[in-house]
Amino acid sequence: MNASAGPVLPTHPTARPVVVLTGASSGIGRATAEELADLGYALVLAARREGELHALARRLDPSGARVIAVPTDVTDDASRRALLAAAQAHFGRIDVLVNNAGVTVERGWWWNDADPLRVLRVNLEAPVELTRLLLPALRAQGSGHIVNIGSVAGLAATNGIYSASKFGLRGFSLALRRELLGSGVHVSLVAPGFVKSEMTARARLPMPGPEVVARAVAAVLLRPRAETVVPAPYRALVWLERHFPALGDWVVQRLIWRRYDHSGASDAARR
Ligand SMILES: NC(=O)c1ccc[n+]([C@@H]2O[C@H](COP(=O)([O-])OP(=O)(O)OC[C@H]3O[C@@H](n4cnc5c(N)ncnc54)[C@H](OP(=O)(O)O)[C@@H]3O)[C@@H](O)[C@H]2O)c1
Repeated sequence: MNASAGPVLPTHPTARPVVVLTGASSGIGRATAEELADLGYALVLAARREGELHALARRLDPSGARVIAVPTDVTDDASRRALLAAAQAHFGRIDVLVNNAGVTVERGWWWNDADPLRVLRVNLEAPVELTRLLLPALRAQGSGHIVNIGSVAGLAATNGIYSASKFGLRGFSLALRRELLGSGVHVSLVAPGFVKSEMTARARLPMPGPEVVARAVAAVLLRPRAETVVPAPYRALVWLERHFPALGDWVVQRLIWRRYDHSGASDAARR
């Protein structure tokens, strides 16, 4: 593959690019799986909920040849290694890693949560470790693409622990892209604003569906981008935040936090 730009294509002209997608059991991950399956990619779906994952894989590819489900906890080193090994064993190669799995402190302030650092483990440590495990193979084959799902909260500070994870992932992604320039391995960051998913189920804000992010992932696979913010109106918000941070204070306090449920002290349900 061309080192500077161009789609991620395997060296064998008839083979389909193989995508490992974390967080595929719901929301943005599920929408991305559907989008990429429609486009003909081979998929390795990863998340903890086995039932959802296997049902999605069967729906996208009843033959079980082109889409496989590999139940995975991305915070567990053995589970991460097993995911990549299963992908290699089934398809013989990996072309793309989409680091999409993510969590936040969904109810209450993060400092009241019993284990806020789980947000860093899922959103930041797991993408770094999965990338570290996969990079030798991508560099050896001279092609590949790491796509990280960041957030507008990684450009405009909102929730302390969630923004820490997404600012961190953004820095990792932008720097890794530079470190790999000329290697044939691309790195793109897709930064969504609010979209409908389980993560945002309690937010009373107008939101599009997760398909808008899925289409952005498909677009960066064809044309790698250092960073892209979706839906597009959030680009204006990011610009305003950068130039008028006091306006950012107002937006976060009035438009976001007031529409969130801060009544609970913690969210034990999905830990
Ligand atoms: N929705 C938004 O407005 C929004 C905005 C900006 C960024 N994002 C980012 O988009 C990504 C997807 O979020 P979403 O909105 O689609 O939320 P979601 O519907 O809650 O999906 C989160 C996904 O992450 C998986 N996951 C969580 N912990 C995991 C673990 N330890 N191991 C493996 N998988 C794990 C979940 O699967 P299991 O529970 O089955 O493991 C699920 O598939 C996240 O990185 C999020 O930060 C979302």
